[in-house]
Amino acid sequence: MQRLGRQWQRAGKPVVLVPTMGFLHRGHASLIARARRLAGRKGRVVVSVYVNPTQFGPKEDLARYPRDVIGDQRLCREAGVDVFFAPDDAEMYPADFSTFAQEEKLSAGMEGASRPGHFRGVTTIVAKLFNIVLPTAAIFGAKDFQQAAIVRRMTRDLNFPVKMVVAPTVREADGLAMSSRNKFLSPAQRPQAAVLWRVIAHAQEAVAGRPVAAARLKREIRDLVAAQPAARLDYVEFFDAETLEPVRTAGPGTQMALAVFVGRTRLIDNAEL
Ligand code: PAJ
Repeated sequence: MQRLGRQWQRAGKPVVLVPTMGFLHRGHASLIARARRLAGRKGRVVVSVYVNPTQFGPKEDLARYPRDVIGDQRLCREAGVDVFFAPDDAEMYPADFSTFAQEEKLSAGMEGASRPGHFRGVTTIVAKLFNIVLPTAAIFGAKDFQQAAIVRRMTRDLNFPVKMVVAPTVREADGLAMSSRNKFLSPAQRPQAAVLWRVIAHAQEAVAGRPVAAARLKREIRDLVAAQPAARLDYVEFFDAETLEPVRTAGPGTQMALAVFVGRTRLIDNAEL
């Protein structure tokens, strides 16, 4: 892969990378379509599929994370992807692997607080993928807002010559953000999972007229989530989209993010108010 990346680089071709953990859905497909447009006819699109063990905590769902390499390959072929890059654990993490890339400010709160070590795993694997594929641009989804902000920061701080592109969240008809983990939801849980989108809509309406205290919105959202028998709020935060610093008062332009357990499945979502 690196040899190919270097050949393309020498030939001056745009190379656009879409990093994923596979079990590809329409959200990933929209990123791939964006990559294809950005690369153009002469450029190259690389999709990486790798379930990265270092971004999972010891009690998380690494072992049961859904996989479908054949389906993923088919989707990529039909989307005009040039290279399907699916390395294995032994190649990515030799037994004596001991070097990590870590962002230390933006990763403190929200997903970083709930999942210690998660973003250290993400930045490490993304740095490795940048060094292996040597892309000119990489596409990330707004679905993982904090992840995109952290990767953007790492790219700047460590001088990766990679243009960061963030593409919008693709949703189901009831607003549920597409996610590989939605597959774990039982028929009884699936409609309840739309509560993430409903509380985002609630907050958007609440701030439309005037600014509202974030603490009050958080209480309302906790109650709305608790009304779903299978759902439990992990966190909800209102923050500045650039610095990720929490705000006391939410208004139009404030960014909102939340994590909710629906049964054993942990779902996240976010939006600008
Ligand atoms: P994964 O969850 O597979 O997501 C891969 C990319 O697809 C991410 O940039 C994510 O934000 C985007 N994505 C997921 N669901 C989406 C949706 N409904 N709409 C739009 N984009 C969506 O995120 C990861 O993998 C990993 O952390 C990774 C960056 C690959 C590092 O291992």
